[in-house]
Amino acid sequence: MSIKTAIVNGISTIEIARPEKKNALTRAMYQEMADALLAANADKSVRALLIQGQPTIFTSGNDIEDFMASPPRDEEAPVFQFMRALVGCEKPVIAAVNGAAIGIGTTLLLHCDFVYVADDSRLAMPFVGLGLVPEFASSLVLPRLMGHARAAEKLLLGDPFTGADAVECGIANAVLPAAEVVAQARRVAERFNKLAPSAVRESKRLMRRHSSEEVMATIKVEAEIFGKRLRSPEAMEAFQAFFQKRQPDFSKFD
Ligand code: COA
Repeated sequence: MSIKTAIVNGISTIEIARPEKKNALTRAMYQEMADALLAANADKSVRALLIQGQPTIFTSGNDIEDFMASPPRDEEAPVFQFMRALVGCEKPVIAAVNGAAIGIGTTLLLHCDFVYVADDSRLAMPFVGLGLVPEFASSLVLPRLMGHARAAEKLLLGDPFTGADAVECGIANAVLPAAEVVAQARRVAERFNKLAPSAVRESKRLMRRHSSEEVMATIKVEAEIFGKRLRSPEAMEAFQAFFQKRQPDFSKFD
């Protein structure tokens, strides 16, 4: 079981638990997360959701092997079900990030309401380095959040950044010692047990109202290009390089 879910004391917890592969996300895992998000959204006893990884890794992003073997073919692919379920979640979603958050591990944070990051965490969106393009509306949300110049460092160069940087550029709420991240995220989630639930849902909807259509439209546009790029020679070179534990060589491409 690579995704563990539990509903305790009003909090639905989704825990990514595949440490032997650095919590890389497979189709089956996206499906489980999508199902858990939808179930929590519909469950009246749930007041908030918590997404967490393992103590040394949040997630290394899409499972590259799974991606190569069966790239997402259409909008019903589990990865897109997961994206829609997270964007559409009416209840507060809190993320607790320990260790690395790579690719969708970082872009999913853009759709959470609260993000707590460990002081030794590293975030990165190395899509271009993999011959790919940004996903999960990061090409829309990041430039808006931090300006084009800083977004370009993260999306075009794929520069990694720290939890403190994530706070500074508006992705995260706070950076904490690693051992305190999950506890802080849980404390915030538990506060929603005492708040008026429909006022919380309506307020979240109002906060996201202006951007939600654009976010969904951008996810679609990105997905079309991402899908084509997954089969591109540049991506093939990058994926092979990853598994051969070498740097990709893009010198022959124009
Ligand atoms: N997809 C598939 N397998 C992955 C993976 C991914 N995204 N990330 C890690 N793994 C696998 C490795 O292949 C390795 O498998 P093996 O033990 O069978 O050889 C195992 O997980 C451990 O990874 P390793 O790279 O040895 O760990 P590390 O501590 O040296 O580095 C990371 C950790 C997260 C920095 C590194 O694994 C990484 O950069 N992963 C790829 C991240 C990425 O590009 N994600 C974006 C995808 S769109």
